[in-house]
Amino acid sequence: MCPAADGMTGVIPQADPARRLGRFRSEIDQALKRVLDSGRLLLGPETAAFEQEFAAYLGGGEVVAVASGASALTIALTALGIGSGDEVVVPALTAVPTAGAIHRAGALPIFADVDPLTRNLDSAALGAAIGPRTRAIVPVHLHGMPADMPAILAVARRHGLAVIEDCAQAHGTSLGGRMLGTFGHAAAFSFYPSKNLGAAGDAGAIFTADAVLAARARRLRAHGLDDHGIAAETGETGRIDEMQAAILRVLLPHLDAANADRRRIAGEYSAALAGSGIELPPEFPTANYHQFAVALDRRDEVRARMAQAGILTGIHYPRALHQHPAFKSAASLPVAERLAARLLSLPIQPEVAEARAAQIAAVLLRSLRS
Ligand SMILES: Cc1ncc(COP(=O)(O)O)c(C=O)c1O
Repeated sequence: MCPAADGMTGVIPQADPARRLGRFRSEIDQALKRVLDSGRLLLGPETAAFEQEFAAYLGGGEVVAVASGASALTIALTALGIGSGDEVVVPALTAVPTAGAIHRAGALPIFADVDPLTRNLDSAALGAAIGPRTRAIVPVHLHGMPADMPAILAVARRHGLAVIEDCAQAHGTSLGGRMLGTFGHAAAFSFYPSKNLGAAGDAGAIFTADAVLAARARRLRAHGLDDHGIAAETGETGRIDEMQAAILRVLLPHLDAANADRRRIAGEYSAALAGSGIELPPEFPTANYHQFAVALDRRDEVRARMAQAGILTGIHYPRALHQHPAFKSAASLPVAERLAARLLSLPIQPEVAEARAAQIAAVLLRSLRS
């Protein structure tokens, strides 16, 4: 929950997606009117146009827009034939839905430790997690920082595994001149409101260069039905609604500028906190800085002091995945566990953090010392 706009309370929220939408309010109002006037509420012309526009943004291929990022992951896994009896390796430090979606596809998530600097899947740990039942890898580009795709793809090729990139936090990040999402067999994007490309509710998308996979994903998002209303397999209620698609079409042309703003704010934080002993995220020139998470001792104390000073922060995420009871895992993955106990996400959304990085960094340093 975001607090009231900081202009009214003096509080700087960690994120405020409604303010981002507010910047484009008149275009969004027109887009919503267009949808309501059309009478078409689900999977209509706005969805088709957004799919084409987002595919073009990613450099070609097909986009299948769906109801959420979690739906995108589950549908992509199922469309790739992954299900009961299969194992899928995921980094232990990510959002719960990365692994929840694997469960919903009927497969078992296997957790691998992460690299302490990038906080993304460690390729040596990935290799060690692969067994005879492994069918796929879901690398996550956590906080918008690219995972080591060349190393992950090499492991996947060696073992004949599918790769589904979790791009829920990676809109517009590129690696070696290629957009994240285009490295694997498929990718899942989330447009949850606080994402770099965020809707006014839940929405998501699958990207793939494989037309057969895309066609199956299109059926799976609508109960498995084909154009004649016949189901060869069952699917889910995974449709995107036309209002979200229309809003995403308004925001997509502004994504690169927003990411550039985030990179600039991240650079200001890095400069202000350099030499403080605080562990900073890597400076990566094409990362989208979905989050700027520092790693600290006494994180919760520092967080409380910052909140008292009117600066709200986030925790992404409070536990590593194998530490959640839902996954019934006995694994011990020390890097992910240590990061989960120490990471603190500073405000980075341009609408709340612009021109305030120095102030926020000063409050962090003061809170750390007191
Ligand atoms: C890394 C990651 N994967 C998956 C998801 C799931 O996306 P959604 O909330 O749109 O289902 C999220 C968003 O919460 C996420 O951050």
